[in-house]
Amino acid sequence: MTVIGILGAGQAGSTLARVSIAAGYDVVLANSRGPETLAGLVARLGPRTRAASAVDAAAAADFAVTAFPYAPGDRLPVAELAGKVVIDNNNHMVWRDGVLPEVEAGLKTVHELRQEQLPTSKVVKAFTHVQFHERSTIRTPEDALPALVRLARPAGAPDRRALVVSSDHPDAVELVTRYYDDLGFDAVDNSPLSESWRSAPGTPMWRHHVDGQSREQLVANLRSAERPPG
Ligand SMILES: NC(=O)c1ccc[n+]([C@@H]2O[C@H](COP(=O)([O-])OP(=O)(O)OC[C@H]3O[C@@H](n4cnc5c(N)ncnc54)[C@H](OP(=O)(O)O)[C@@H]3O)[C@@H](O)[C@H]2O)c1
Repeated sequence: MTVIGILGAGQAGSTLARVSIAAGYDVVLANSRGPETLAGLVARLGPRTRAASAVDAAAAADFAVTAFPYAPGDRLPVAELAGKVVIDNNNHMVWRDGVLPEVEAGLKTVHELRQEQLPTSKVVKAFTHVQFHERSTIRTPEDALPALVRLARPAGAPDRRALVVSSDHPDAVELVTRYYDDLGFDAVDNSPLSESWRSAPGTPMWRHHVDGQSREQLVANLRSAERPPG
């Protein structure tokens, strides 16, 4: 059984755990405070999930997710994540995370900075433009579902949405493409990480994070992105 180590157990990490378990994965969840603080969440998620420290979750993982914002001083389990695919779902928000001069100047993407923090891992940007929460206005029962659940469709469905994936490592793109498929989404490859500014907050594709977009729309929206002047 494939074990996903999800570091970050907030809105994104806990929702990703829920859909991954439903798709047949096992999950080890970690946060910054310690596994004892995750007892209630783990009980709700059921027997395919357990809580651990970030180091232990990383060690147990076949692949991992960093579901928390990037910060220059992040202390990460580098050794335990060595050689593994690490999905980074962070959207850099200046109002929340502060100014990152290299990102603001257009010299690097925040995901390249995460790759630098994890030099022996295969960092891949994914799940950044799908909401892990309900719609802001609930008009139908479906609207109360996280978009990651509400928008999921079986392979081949005419209204299947696509999500973007970017990495410097082709095998990480392949892994995420299969994972997206398992969760009900097509993939569009926007590699390498240096190109991942095309799916940053505020870009044409990112504005579809509530209701999603088809593969063709996503390709066109990525192409029409313009890098803001540094
Ligand atoms: N929410 C969404 O719909 C959404 C959509 C797309 C992308 N994202 C991205 O997903 C990330 C998480 O967002 P969120 O809404 O889930 O935030 P959140 O609810 O605030 O959760 C953040 C989680 O990360 C944990 N954490 C922080 N630093 C950690 C570390 N060094 N090691 C392990 N765990 C750590 C926190 O643990 P403690 O509580 O113990 O500190 C908390 O469980 C962000 O980067 C965001 O941009 C979110």
